[in-house]
Amino acid sequence: MSNTPEAKVSTVGPRMTGKTTIITGAGSGMGYASVERFLAEGGNVVGLDINDEGLAKLREVYGDDNLLTLVCDVANQDQVNDSVKAAVDRFGAVDVYFNNAGVPFVAKPIEEVTDEEWDLNMSVNLKAIFIAARAVVPVMKSQGGGSFIITASMAGLRPRPELGPYTVAKGAAVHFAKALAIELAPSQIRVNAVCPVAAATPMLAQFGVGDHITPNATPMGRLATAEEVAAMALFLASDDSTFITGLALPVDGGRSV
Ligand SMILES: NC(=O)c1ccc[n+]([C@@H]2O[C@H](COP(=O)([O-])OP(=O)(O)OC[C@H]3O[C@@H](n4cnc5c(N)ncnc54)[C@H](O)[C@@H]3O)[C@@H](O)[C@H]2O)c1
Repeated sequence: MSNTPEAKVSTVGPRMTGKTTIITGAGSGMGYASVERFLAEGGNVVGLDINDEGLAKLREVYGDDNLLTLVCDVANQDQVNDSVKAAVDRFGAVDVYFNNAGVPFVAKPIEEVTDEEWDLNMSVNLKAIFIAARAVVPVMKSQGGGSFIITASMAGLRPRPELGPYTVAKGAAVHFAKALAIELAPSQIRVNAVCPVAAATPMLAQFGVGDHITPNATPMGRLATAEEVAAMALFLASDDSTFITGLALPVDGGRSV
């Protein structure tokens, strides 16, 4: 038997066949890469984003056989409820919810942070998890289980200076993942977080300057890629991780060591 990477991939096979995943922030960066990866793994995907531009590109490239895209503000309970219902109507189930959409924060001293910046980070980077859980947990319970994945951040495990509300929201997101994991384990719903270090996505430039976003911020000497985050989301979504819950998984080239 060959040990080449090609041989390993060909023996594994698609990992999301017959499964439906909702991915938020699907129009860009990690969400977009995750849509691509989950489709490539044979799954049905419902991509949500507040902005239709990236969703339109997904529709153009992948068509609509296994893909549904919806404009949705993840901070709006009614819109998320409607999106979950649309996913069930279209594909019959929601096996995985990847709560990935987020907003950046332009690094600045705490005394300069505005109420609006604080509230936006809490709403999109934290409250959206609560909103999503209220919408999708009843569906997953009725199905006998599911996987709920949150894109947190290395900033949520190891705060950096001047990222104020972003680090707080992401730290709480990690804690929320653990709390939900314990609460929902008896219902066979697994809840995990991925914690990327700075990643080469459109969001990166919006954080402003700082040593946390330069390649030498990691022992491996580079930033994360959107595809590396998508691969860990896939792992947490798939049957390769059926006994893993409450994990905050660094995708960080050794940054957290
Ligand atoms: N890029 C990084 O350096 C980095 C590092 C660690 C964690 N993260 C986190 O990764 C996740 C994905 O970020 P990314 O780097 O791919 O960024 P990105 O800017 O490329 O993509 C984020 C997407 O979320 C969407 N979005 C924003 N607000 C929304 C809302 N209210 N409702 C629905 N969609 C909304 C945006 O339109 C965008 O398409 C975020 O949660 C981010 O905080 C990013």
